[in-house]
Amino acid sequence: MKSKFLNLRADAAKVLHQILEEGQSARECLPLAQLPHKEQDKAWLQEMVYGVLRNLPILQFWLRKLLDKPLKNRYKIVEQLIMLGFYQLAFSRVSQHAAVSETVAACQPLNTQAMKGLVNAILRTFIREEISQQQAPNQQIASGLPKWLFKKLEAEYQDGFIDLIGNMQQKAPIWLRVNTQQISHADFVETLGNASIDFTLSTEHPEAIILSKGYDVTSLPGFDKGWFAVQDGAAQLAAHYLEPAENQTILDCCAAPGGKTCHIVETQPNITKIVALEVNQQRALKIEENLSRLGHNAEIVIGDATLPEQWWDGQLFDQVLLDAPCSATGIIRRHPDIKWLRKAKDIEVLVTLQKQILDAIWALIKPGGTMLYATCSILPEENHLQISDFLSRTPNASLDNRFCNDSVDRPGKQILPGDQQMDGFYYARLLKSK
Ligand SMILES: C[S@@+](CC[C@H](N)C(=O)[O-])C[C@H]1O[C@@H](n2cnc3c(N)ncnc32)[C@H](O)[C@@H]1O
Repeated sequence: MKSKFLNLRADAAKVLHQILEEGQSARECLPLAQLPHKEQDKAWLQEMVYGVLRNLPILQFWLRKLLDKPLKNRYKIVEQLIMLGFYQLAFSRVSQHAAVSETVAACQPLNTQAMKGLVNAILRTFIREEISQQQAPNQQIASGLPKWLFKKLEAEYQDGFIDLIGNMQQKAPIWLRVNTQQISHADFVETLGNASIDFTLSTEHPEAIILSKGYDVTSLPGFDKGWFAVQDGAAQLAAHYLEPAENQTILDCCAAPGGKTCHIVETQPNITKIVALEVNQQRALKIEENLSRLGHNAEIVIGDATLPEQWWDGQLFDQVLLDAPCSATGIIRRHPDIKWLRKAKDIEVLVTLQKQILDAIWALIKPGGTMLYATCSILPEENHLQISDFLSRTPNASLDNRFCNDSVDRPGKQILPGDQQMDGFYYARLLKSK
């Protein structure tokens, strides 16, 4: 497709419509929309879509103020286009003239020409009445969070709540994990320095590099050679908390896209075997892709963790990493679509699934073996409450008190978004008695 036929704002509105009205994830629909665009425009498209998702409650509040009646059916997408206009005017460096004229012009490729006058009038009123200067009517709208999540976090975090919601609004930095089977951390640091890449290091993450800007990681030195992978700092703790030892057999349960599988192999290349279990066949392809780019091997098994009888060969494992399916509320800064795709009622379903997986997989561990339970959630019911429950119904399980233990009544370690620049994550290391 020739670029003169492309329209960035129309494409951004389409992606927003797919996420907000059709329930698609940004991971599915954004790359497809970006495909025909130039590199710079791809980044702009993501910036606009994520910007709207981060600030949706205030954008919706402004929309309701200036639009008499909600738009329906094929004109619904015009609401997304108007909010994109507000976002450009209130939060971006796009000039007022371009924000108005280009947003109005996007009605054409969206096949909603009849709405041009309305979009133009609303955006001009928005500027004239300085709507973006007015205070948000309440804290929930200012927080950018949906009501149900705002209330849940407020009840759980009390004192730290304001900092937490502020951190959840921020953009997350890009963390790299050096593949120490290919290059030492020191040599990679030197290579990046020579290439004038800006970054910082973390004393608690021996393989990590934190990029100071939004670089295109595929163009950094050594990407094709598998010198590094993109992985948040909180996720990089998993392989270290697991402490894989020589000659052990390990199950990485719920493994796609394989970030932690690869890190475990890098941390301890002399394990006997690692099985990467994943229920979703499409996502399992990603494990293969990542292993192959980084030069590692693992046994990939497609199977359901709640039904080991369908895939397990009967050999007990020394250690299990259970990176459970969860609400992903800890990684909202990185994936703001999660806020609008997750619903309050999903949490109960996830908690039940986590419980079933915990019980089924616990049976596959050798006496004296361990399980590291992990989620990228900041909700207590998926984390410390889930583990307290597990410990109380499982007589041969105890908590490893050496690390990742916040307090006696809150087993495990809760990392919050922004702690040392990390994503929100939870870990609990569980020991099976001999
Ligand atoms: C949090 S992600 C795992 C991330 C991965 N450990 C990594 O570090 O790259 C959870 C994964 O669990 C998978 N999953 C969900 N339910 C499952 C089940 N019943 N059995 C096995 N895998 C499951 C999902 O498809 C998803 O890929």
